[in-house]
Amino acid sequence: MDAKRSSTVADRLLGWYDVHARALPWRAPPGTPADPYRVWLSEVMLQQTTVAAVAPRFAAWTARWPDFSSLAAADEADVMAAWAGLGYYARARNLVATARVVAADHGGRFPDTEAQLRALPGLGAYTAAAVAAIAFGRRAVVVDANVERVVARLFAIDTPLPAARPMIRAAADTITPDERAGDFAQAMMDLGSGLCTVRAPKCLLCPLRMDCAGFATGAPEMFPVKAKKAARKQRYGTIFWLERGDDVLLVRRPDSGLLGGMRALPTGPWETQAPGLEGAPVQADWRLLATTVTHGFTHMDLELALAVARVDAHHPGSWWPIADLASAGLPTLFAKAAAAIRSSS
Ligand code: ADE
Repeated sequence: MDAKRSSTVADRLLGWYDVHARALPWRAPPGTPADPYRVWLSEVMLQQTTVAAVAPRFAAWTARWPDFSSLAAADEADVMAAWAGLGYYARARNLVATARVVAADHGGRFPDTEAQLRALPGLGAYTAAAVAAIAFGRRAVVVDANVERVVARLFAIDTPLPAARPMIRAAADTITPDERAGDFAQAMMDLGSGLCTVRAPKCLLCPLRMDCAGFATGAPEMFPVKAKKAARKQRYGTIFWLERGDDVLLVRRPDSGLLGGMRALPTGPWETQAPGLEGAPVQADWRLLATTVTHGFTHMDLELALAVARVDAHHPGSWWPIADLASAGLPTLFAKAAAAIRSSS
């Protein structure tokens, strides 16, 4: 696309956004800068979870920790529990770490360039670009999965993902405007989620239809082309449910590794075959239930056997009232296991 034509792509898209922008809790209206804390938090939350699922979690989080200073002062365990169900726990740990760096080293103000943002804990290229553009109005090329699809179609890029990523990024760069780069990025996201959808894109409503090489092919839904995925690893493990009176034993998982630092039910090792009672937290009269629980992570599928036992009243450990387990903030996998165990006993 030549420079003149590409400027009209941005103009058309921004004109569409001025009318059709979604009102989202972290957004300012088109043309206005947004609160950097809310932009950053929402971008991190949205990395693995949908807009619909994030909205209530975002409201609860910002009611509790409305800004960098409150988050910097938060107890990390509370933050981890509040993150349950939102994806990798390393993200929550990095949120607290970043808030602390902002409070300690930046006088409570979020840095406003991509390069400085990248230096914050766990803050990657995507988030730095999104925050620089959306919160600070800087020109930055923001490519998430929705934008990737829109750009792949607009330019009919037929190289399969992930090899196509650098081309998609370069193409996105050619259409990103100098002004209103944050609105442009969010307009691309809204276009991707509302019109330029994975299946059955609504091209007749699209402001970029006449610019779109994918539309011109007659089969825009073919883009982006995906490479075949390797199968995820299958692993097996056991979850141990140890009761003492009306309580159950909970542990804190090691900081590194799967669900690092989270409160959890004890588990044994993950193996290629069911490990049975290997790794039980205590010697007890363990009984393996007939049901198992399955859970998919990005890199593996887990199938977990459930072992239950009781100990007497004075057994040491960190005990949690079973009736109040919902407030323990257990990751989804353990919440599923607890539900299965309680319904089977
Ligand atoms: N997905 C990721 N960031 C988003 C944003 N700012 N608006 C809408 N969807 C998004």
